[in-house]
Amino acid sequence: MSRKATVVAPSNIALIKYWGTRDLAETLPFNPSFSMTLRECATRTTVEGIEGAGADNILVRVANGGFEAASESFAGGVIRHLDRLRAWADVDQRFRVATQNSFPMGAGLASSASGFAALALAVVESLEREVDPETASRLARQSGSGSAARSVVGGYVEWPAEGCAEGSAAQVFAAEHWDLRDVVAILDTTEKRVSSRAGHKLAETSPYFAHRLRELPHRLAEVRQAIGERDFARLAPIVEEEAIDLHLIAMSSRPPIFYWQPASLAVLQLARDLREDGVEVCSTMDAGANVHLLCTVAAEGRVVAALRGMPEVEDVIRDGVGDGPQVEDQHLF
Ligand code: DP6
Repeated sequence: MSRKATVVAPSNIALIKYWGTRDLAETLPFNPSFSMTLRECATRTTVEGIEGAGADNILVRVANGGFEAASESFAGGVIRHLDRLRAWADVDQRFRVATQNSFPMGAGLASSASGFAALALAVVESLEREVDPETASRLARQSGSGSAARSVVGGYVEWPAEGCAEGSAAQVFAAEHWDLRDVVAILDTTEKRVSSRAGHKLAETSPYFAHRLRELPHRLAEVRQAIGERDFARLAPIVEEEAIDLHLIAMSSRPPIFYWQPASLAVLQLARDLREDGVEVCSTMDAGANVHLLCTVAAEGRVVAALRGMPEVEDVIRDGVGDGPQVEDQHLF
């Protein structure tokens, strides 16, 4: 039996990036990653069992506010994950799933992180199962979207590469510890040409990948410490170094992958210029052209105004660290 359940799960922005999958079947990473869970960029998903149905029914929110059947590829990804969740729960239930994002999909804004976290948690809720955070993280991760492992937890989150039986992410600092903001410069909302999954598979072909893995423990410790001490001056250069390193690996993979666009470079430069001017801001990028500008509350107004003044910037999303997923009673159907 299952009941109607709705979960809103946020996206997250990695300060230390997951790039390279050591176990593709289980979605386990080569390296530890560290992220900030967001509060505005989120996926709302409603799930309900359909009695006697032979197939799942996957719906997505469309522009006019209604819902329509998801594309074959989107529905396929959801159904594959429903199959894993059914196997875990030992049920044969088919589901109606409706989903809505508060931000553009597939543009380096980790829509699959929030999407698969919301799906996993909504199914768990619908089946009235109790799960601990480790299991929730594992169920999200097994979707194939590793970053989803981090979206089931709020605040500042670490996903270790090894040494953790469930391969689960866990909170390091709560959101209240430091109210950092993430101002996202939307430069391109088209679907990226090379998926993160394809990028993860190619990471090892970069001649610089082994060097990256050697650098990461130190970089991760720095990020942890800077956040622990709320030391922005310490955090900024290390976050920028890490984002450039991710793209260096992508660009030196065989074949190479380029996510940057000219507008991305302009925003990276803006962050450096603002910082020289005393503004507490730094940049990071995931596998896409958009740029996230992390900043303090005091700096947010300047950062937003500067981005709005750039012709290359299509839109600006204001986000910040958040508390993680919520079960809600406002259902999508
Ligand atoms: C660059 O495989 O989790 O964002 O499933 O497409 O969201 P999607 O990506 P995933 O890889 C994330 C790669 C990254 C870095 C990160 O979030 O750690």
